[in-house]
Amino acid sequence: MPDLVIRALEKNDVEHVRWALFQAVSWNPERELPPYELLIEHPELARYHRAWGRTGDLGVLAELDSNVVGAAFCRLFSDDDHGHGYVDDRTPELAVAVVGAHRGRGIGRRLMVELADAARAAGFAQLSLSVDTDNPALSLYERLGYRELTRDEGGVRMLLEL
Ligand SMILES: CC(C)(COP(=O)(O)OP(=O)(O)OC[C@H]1O[C@@H](n2cnc3c(N)ncnc32)[C@H](O)[C@@H]1OP(=O)(O)O)[C@@H](O)C(=O)NCCC(=O)NCCS
Repeated sequence: MPDLVIRALEKNDVEHVRWALFQAVSWNPERELPPYELLIEHPELARYHRAWGRTGDLGVLAELDSNVVGAAFCRLFSDDDHGHGYVDDRTPELAVAVVGAHRGRGIGRRLMVELADAARAAGFAQLSLSVDTDNPALSLYERLGYRELTRDEGGVRMLLEL
């Protein structure tokens, strides 16, 4: 896609981090969820975007004609504060989303590859994520080299060696 611009997510891009997180959580239209503002500030989700820009935070944004069409980001967590995709305190956990009308055109894959490159350049050895068992994103992650670590009611936890 020649006009696609990928840039790093900055400290003041937290709205894009929140948007991507919301999309990732609400991917299944058949599942009823609280409205955006309530859900995004729930402690389970707020831990992924609160004080965005802290050490270890990394992200990439995709723009088409200056419109944001997708984002991927990752963040470090600790043993006493983490979500389902947590592996250890040296492995950032990532989330990714692409605007509905632009899905299936390679933007998600591109964002995942660029984020992995940025994480490698920052000195990280691996990335982790969590995905619902029935989310079609699972096959994309497998093709990108993520391997399954665990599978339970919270979803599939996956790891990519960088
Ligand atoms: C997952 C997601 C980021 C992939 O982005 P994308 O730009 O559609 O991905 P690509 O075009 O690079 O790759 C397409 C692959 O993604 C997967 N995919 C997941 N959801 C898809 C969708 N709604 N439309 C098309 N492909 C989708 C498919 O496995 C597809 O593989 P295929 O080419 O064999 O059919 C995007 O579909 C999305 O935002 N989904 C909603 C949010 C979400 O579920 N995030 C992940 C939470 S763990």
